Amino acid sequence: MLKFVILLSAVACALGGTIPEGLLPQMDGRIIGGTATSISDIPWQLSLQSYGSHYCGAVIISPSYALTAAHCLPDYIPIEVLRVRAGSSWWFIGGDLISVASKTAHEDYDSSTLDNDIGLIELSQALTFSSYIQPIAVATSDPEDGEDAIVSGWGSQLPGTSINSLHLRAVPVKTISETACRSAYGNRITANMFCAGAPGKDACQGDSGGPLVTTNGIVIGVVSWGNGCARPQYPGVYTKVGKYLTWFRNQGAPV
Ligand code: ARG
Repeated sequence: MLKFVILLSAVACALGGTIPEGLLPQMDGRIIGGTATSISDIPWQLSLQSYGSHYCGAVIISPSYALTAAHCLPDYIPIEVLRVRAGSSWWFIGGDLISVASKTAHEDYDSSTLDNDIGLIELSQALTFSSYIQPIAVATSDPEDGEDAIVSGWGSQLPGTSINSLHLRAVPVKTISETACRSAYGNRITANMFCAGAPGKDACQGDSGGPLVTTNGIVIGVVSWGNGCARPQYPGVYTKVGKYLTWFRNQGAPV
């Protein structure tokens, strides 16, 4: 099965993703409804890895700092086993594999409500920027309703196993009003969260911590949670990155 997945993924890449989605194994664990995308189109995207396996995304905001979701930085994952891979479209090979000097989940992160699902990673060496590795500007305010944005990542888990999407994928979605978001999720949506989605398009397990970026190149959201993936009534829920600018600076990130 794994060989089948690798073969089809490789063929899909070679053909620029022209294989119909229906021919690919339909995994729960990857960007839903998207297309294979080159890291040079999303050069701020990092793969966050523990014990050599991709498990979350992260977002380059300066040479030595990356954003991710707080739920991607649990205390039980020691810093020694963490790496980020920068500058590769594949999570498992290429680019630069860099260890982590410090990780900070937001002190007000609540693992039961997922409020303040934001964290920061300091890399053990500064990234060398190139056409494959670039920082992205962080939003300075809340996202607007109906904004076009792109979410990206390597996805991760078929339930019960840990098969990742080997190649980076991305999908266009639109930000959704707080009212519409609350009609799906009620008051589980805090002031630090917003929704984004589109029919059949969503982030999914393993995309967490990755970027939601507007067409003018600003990161407005970090993949946080959702009820299933791409379910018609349930958009993806993202952390409002713009709420945390002061926090990032207080942690030492030059943004
Ligand atoms: N919590 C998931 C993760 O850790 C991300 C879920 C995003 N879900 C969604 N429907 N957008 O990878």
